[in-house]
Amino acid sequence: LSTTHSGRVAVVTGAATGLGRAFADRLSADGALVAVVDVDEAGAQAVAREITKRGGEAVAVVCDVSRPDDVTRMALEVERVLGPATIVVNNAGLSPHISLDDLTFEAWRQVMAVNADGMFLVIKAFLGQMRHERFGRIVNVASNTYGLVIPGFTHYVASKGAVIGLTRAVATELGPEGITANAVAPGLTRTESVVERMEATGLFEQMAQMQAIKRSEVPEDVAGVVSFLASEDARFVTGQTIVVDGGLVRH
Ligand SMILES: NC(=O)c1ccc[n+]([C@@H]2O[C@H](COP(=O)([O-])OP(=O)(O)OC[C@H]3O[C@@H](n4cnc5c(N)ncnc54)[C@H](O)[C@@H]3O)[C@@H](O)[C@H]2O)c1
Repeated sequence: LSTTHSGRVAVVTGAATGLGRAFADRLSADGALVAVVDVDEAGAQAVAREITKRGGEAVAVVCDVSRPDDVTRMALEVERVLGPATIVVNNAGLSPHISLDDLTFEAWRQVMAVNADGMFLVIKAFLGQMRHERFGRIVNVASNTYGLVIPGFTHYVASKGAVIGLTRAVATELGPEGITANAVAPGLTRTESVVERMEATGLFEQMAQMQAIKRSEVPEDVAGVVSFLASEDARFVTGQTIVVDGGLVRH
């Protein structure tokens, strides 16, 4: 275990699986106490148990990030159990593939509610705790699709544009208080849900061929960047989006 984040409380949303789980694991390995936040209760508990087994400290908190009351309750529970959180990783997100013709307002709203509203709500809920500690690191998960030509993701790409804008705007307001906000934009990553949906399509191989680094991305490729942005060393980096995709999209 490293001591980069020792004594700090980190919140990771959507941490029951995929990228969020890798972020929770890495922040714990780097010394943080971790709140594993997800709508999937059993999944979140399993991740928290694994971290505890490895000698870390973690708690699972069930929360739908798109619901204001849920988010308020979750933030209070994190503070009560682990103490004031100063690292907030907004990772929970939905990415259903739907063409513009088939995209209903309801489907658009659902993606916006989780991917954009959810990040706003979680940031607002932890502002008091970060201010109390006079330190804060917000890391929001965007996507390299914001810079790519891939049909079927109008709602998703729009929501990730909102994530990048939200990141820049909160960085501006919170900079004077020692709180940074940055985004990471992964490429197509081998999380369980994406492998299940995409393995058969050949998209992983196509992407790998277009990248400068010619292999598929795995969650651990992103976790170290998130941990860095959450660290003291990243104190003068804010409002940025770091694309972590093997060199496909240049930002
Ligand atoms: N995997 C990729 O290829 C890829 C690429 C770029 C960006 N991303 C982004 O990374 C993030 C994670 O992606 P992933 O592939 O690990 O996703 P995933 O679907 O594997 O996992 C998402 C997790 O979020 C949880 N979740 C969903 N809605 C929630 C809600 N309303 N409240 C709380 N938790 C909720 C799910 O239960 C799940 O545990 C997302 O924001 C996604 O847009 C993923």
